[in-house]
Amino acid sequence: MPNISAQELRTKYLEFFKSKGHTIIPSSSLVPENDATTLFTGSGMQPMVPYLLGESHPKGNRLTDSQKCFRSQDIEEVGDNRHTTFFEMLGNWSLGDYFKQEQIQWMFEFLTEQVGLDPKFLYITVFRGKEDLGISRDEESAKIWQGLFEQKGIAGKILDFPEKEGMRDGRIFYYGEEKNWWSRVGVTGNMPAGEPGGPDSEMFWDYGEHLGIHEKSDFKNQPCHVNCDCGRFVEIGNNVFMEYVKTQSGFEKLKQHNVDFGGGLERMLAAANGQQSVFDTDLFKNMWEVLALDQEIMTNQEVRKARIILDHVRASVFMVSDGMQPSNKDRGYVLRRLLRRSMVMGRLLNLKFHWLKALIGQVVSTYAESYPELVDKSQNIFEVIEGEQAKFEKTLEKGLKQFELRIRNQELGEVTGKEAFDLYQTYGFPWELTKELVENFGHKIKQKDFEAEFKKHQELSRTASAGQFKGGLASHSDKIVRLHTATHLMNAALRQVLGEGVWQKGSNITEERTRFDFTFERKMTLEEVGHVESLVNGWIGRDLTVKKEIMPYEEARKLNAIGVFGEKYADTVSIYTVFDPKSNEIISREFCGGPHVEHTGIIGKFKIAKEEASSAGVRRIKAVIEY
Ligand code: ALA
Repeated sequence: MPNISAQELRTKYLEFFKSKGHTIIPSSSLVPENDATTLFTGSGMQPMVPYLLGESHPKGNRLTDSQKCFRSQDIEEVGDNRHTTFFEMLGNWSLGDYFKQEQIQWMFEFLTEQVGLDPKFLYITVFRGKEDLGISRDEESAKIWQGLFEQKGIAGKILDFPEKEGMRDGRIFYYGEEKNWWSRVGVTGNMPAGEPGGPDSEMFWDYGEHLGIHEKSDFKNQPCHVNCDCGRFVEIGNNVFMEYVKTQSGFEKLKQHNVDFGGGLERMLAAANGQQSVFDTDLFKNMWEVLALDQEIMTNQEVRKARIILDHVRASVFMVSDGMQPSNKDRGYVLRRLLRRSMVMGRLLNLKFHWLKALIGQVVSTYAESYPELVDKSQNIFEVIEGEQAKFEKTLEKGLKQFELRIRNQELGEVTGKEAFDLYQTYGFPWELTKELVENFGHKIKQKDFEAEFKKHQELSRTASAGQFKGGLASHSDKIVRLHTATHLMNAALRQVLGEGVWQKGSNITEERTRFDFTFERKMTLEEVGHVESLVNGWIGRDLTVKKEIMPYEEARKLNAIGVFGEKYADTVSIYTVFDPKSNEIISREFCGGPHVEHTGIIGKFKIAKEEASSAGVRRIKAVIEY
């Protein structure tokens, strides 16, 4: 196995693309500029959006960089072998210049020749197409990859669904838009008009068969597949062929075809060095030393806590260097949550005094060469983080003691919303942390009760990072997700109240409202409107579970899943079911790509704002959520 440092890999990548005519540009800030769609820069393409849409870039049409990224939506996953909130994304772009052939060939060359990855352990996914949008299967990319593998003497077998049958000696796999379509806001249905996106082709590294653990996943008792997310196959890069833009009525080709490549430096580094976790790479080596923990004798839970500390402190250092300060809203809230969570984890691991300070120092020196601004701003970084520590330390000890008293001795095994709220209010424990601690001690907590308590105190921080999805959209996407699930409930309620002649004709969701067109002959009465509202609010109040399943189309039909009138679906479909986990009563089951909330209790209060004619035999409802 080759042995390569983070610094060497970063340089190798940039120099390789420089040799292919690219200009190396510096990383943009973690705070997006002129871009209100997200709180943080979550991918290398974000600062590139105007240029992908056709504006000319001052440095030309071939660019490469290593971009600082932060994805708060991955916060719950941190602690496994591959997720971090902060990471560096190696990126290269063609702005209306080269396309699939060059990109795939160069990427293969880079990974196998420059980094020295054995192609035997490399696997590929490509887009299976979306006929209803007129976007075809990416056979071109599949064939290019196949040719490259074959040149290395490896069979490049191309396979389609179902992935649940396992790898079947396949090398290149077709997947639907949930996996192989990329835009800042995820799948096609979520994209607002004007947003660029495109099919992508992802590269996966096989980190080792023994990592394939499927206890909790959809793949329980099934053979592994590249996208099963068990920890064995890890995505190390994504080639996006960004040639589409969403319009009011569908999709159009952009004036230019673009390439947007992004690959996680940490994951590529682990792959290059035969390591099985990004936390084993040299980027974290000195930080582990500060913690002075013996990983050999730690439990999995302890390792997870330590990794959370390493990730969160590293992210915080970069956030502060980009001008953020801990606070109770937006980015500041996320920063505060990261820091407080690391301090609690530090306490639970009995870390030595001053560990945080020492850790900040290590982050700064690890990155000093590539990010000299960390050194320039180090005094401020220490001040801000230590200031937050001083604030929180005072109450942390008291809070944890109180917490143990209240929670450990409970027989019920359930913490009330009021108790959780008191901890939050008195001791400044962020809600997510309270939940985590409660669960750490084997108890349950009702998020719904806590939120009710929270609202009572009129302090609901709408900027908390919960509920974010791919692309890192901030609070506004959270609203869209809630409205999306509410729309499914409304669809079910309309069919109950107005009869099964109701079929969805279309829908459109913005952060303010959902708009829903459906087949029905006449104006709804006020009673009918009121009845639909109360059914939906009743279901929200019951905190029903929302579950996603992927299955063959025929199976979904047998389950009576409903869809959009006249729409053609793929052979394999994704279904969302809203059901009562106690009685198993099914409220709604629809063909849908998501995303949705996990449970209805967090949606808020549903209200129909308007009911009107749309076209002959079609009515239109606009509905909102009050928080
Ligand atoms: N923009 C693409 C991604 O973030 C490369 O995966």
